[in-house]
Formats: sequence, C-alpha cells, structure tokens
Amino acid sequence: MENLFATADMAQGYAAARPAVHGLVLREVWKSLGQGVRAARALDIGCGSGLSTRELLPLCGKCFGVEPAVSMLRLARAVAPGAEFAAGSAERLPFADGSMELMTAAGSLNFCDVERAFPEMLRVLAEGGRLVVYDFEPGRLMRDSDALEQWFGEFQRRYPPPVNAAVHLDPERLAKLARGFTCGPWARFEGGLALEAEFYGRYMMTETNVAQAARRGGDAGEIRAWVETTLRPVFAGRPREVLFDGYWAVFGKPSSERTRPAL
Ligand SMILES: C[S@@+](CC[C@H](N)C(=O)[O-])C[C@H]1O[C@@H](n2cnc3c(N)ncnc32)[C@H](O)[C@@H]1O
Repeated sequence: MENLFATADMAQGYAAARPAVHGLVLREVWKSLGQGVRAARALDIGCGSGLSTRELLPLCGKCFGVEPAVSMLRLARAVAPGAEFAAGSAERLPFADGSMELMTAAGSLNFCDVERAFPEMLRVLAEGGRLVVYDFEPGRLMRDSDALEQWFGEFQRRYPPPVNAAVHLDPERLAKLARGFTCGPWARFEGGLALEAEFYGRYMMTETNVAQAARRGGDAGEIRAWVETTLRPVFAGRPREVLFDGYWAVFGKPSSERTRPAL
C-alpha cells in the first residue's frame, strides 16, 4: 500500500496543523480505566510527527514513537521533546518482547497489514500491559450550522479521497483481530475544538485526498488557494467549534499462567 503520509508536506502539516483531538480522547480513556495510568515504558505506533506521542510523555518514564515515514520522524523530536523515535512499522516493531507497558496507535493501524500487526504488538506488549487503539474522522461539522458539512462535501468532490488506501477499523473489527488480547473497555466519542479558518484550512491540506491530488500532479498552491478562499465565509471571521467523532478501544495482554513445578 502506497504511504501517502511519506512526504515533507504531510510531515510539516502533521507537526503543525493537526487539531489536538488526541488529548481529548486519551483523557476519556484514562478516566474509564479508573486509576492513575502510569507506565515505565510506552510506545506510540505510527506516531507521525509526534503529536500523538506527546500525549504519552506525562504518563511514562520512557516514551517511544515508531513510524515508517522518515520525513515524519525528522520533525517528531521537536514536537515531542524527550521521546525517542525509531523507523519501523506495526508489523515489525524494533523493540524487544514484553518491553512496553503501554502502547497507543492513533489512526495508524488502518494503514498496516492488521493480520501481522496484532501478533507483533502482542509480542512487544508486557504482560499486564495495555494497547489503546483510537481514531477520529476529519472534523467536518459545526454544532450551530451546516455550512462546514456542505463545504467538506464539495472539498471531497473536487479532491476525492483515495480508494483502498486504508483498512476500515472499528472496535468490533479490532476485537476480532486482537487474538490473544483481552478486550475492553471501548467507546465512541465526540468532542469539539474551537478552530480558526486559517488553521482549519492548513489542517485540510493534510488530508489524504489532498496528498493524493498532489501526487497525481495537482497544484498544491491552487488547492490551498481554493481551500482558503472558500472557508472564509464558512467561518465568518471568528473561531468556530468543530466536532470530531471517533472511537477508542483498550486491549490487554493477560499474564501467562505458570504451572508451578511440584515440590
Ligand atoms: C493518520 S496518521 C496518524 C499519525 C499520528 N499517530 C497522529 O495521530 O498524528 C497515520 C500514520 O500511520 C503511519 N503508517 C503507515 N503505515 C504504517 C504501518 N505499517 N505501521 C505503522 N504506521 C504506519 C503513516 O506513515 C502515518 O504517519
């Protein structure tokens, strides 16, 4: 599968122009787990430019991010200072067996071979450790107006999303894939963030439909100009609350039951 994220433009956009939904989601996850979540070592899988990794820093002694796109990794150290980053993929994690107490995957498993990734994640997770998988749709709704939804429809008509670029995942599908893990809790979520037109426009330039249009010879400057011009009336000169919906799901690695040798 071609990695549409592996360009300098996508890396820049992921470092500076993605909405901070990760923190909203993870706060819900930690709350549902009902205790102070701490990990000696935590790993963010498919970490992009480090935005999702940054959320793990306060929770862990040592924090790692792994990512196949080197252009993303180049920026990640500045986005999540203190974390360590490595090139790799969910199917092949450059970490020892049982070495991570906490692992997250934010919107990244959709781009890997999930049949290979789950056994590999189980290998690297420590017994009693947790894997949190979460994802969210592009924010395209405002609470008080349908103008953004209409704009987003036109955006996708002009620049169609790539077909077969991502595997569809949801908590039910993940639970079937997560053989050897314990499953739960999980939930769907909706959260809002106040965004300005300028930021939202830069965010839209990081969507894979734009990356695909650019890869096919589209002029990124022209796309940006269309995005900026048409968004201005939608936001009407003020920050607007944009809604994001998605899911999160927690998987655990059970402790192995050792048979005690007879005395
Ligand atoms: C939607 S982005 C999410 C990035 C980051 N987690 C975030 O939330 O900002 C998906 C990421 O998955 C990465 N990716 C693609 N194939 C992968 C694979 N086989 N294993 C792990 N990550 C992969 C992409 O390079 C990209 O950085």
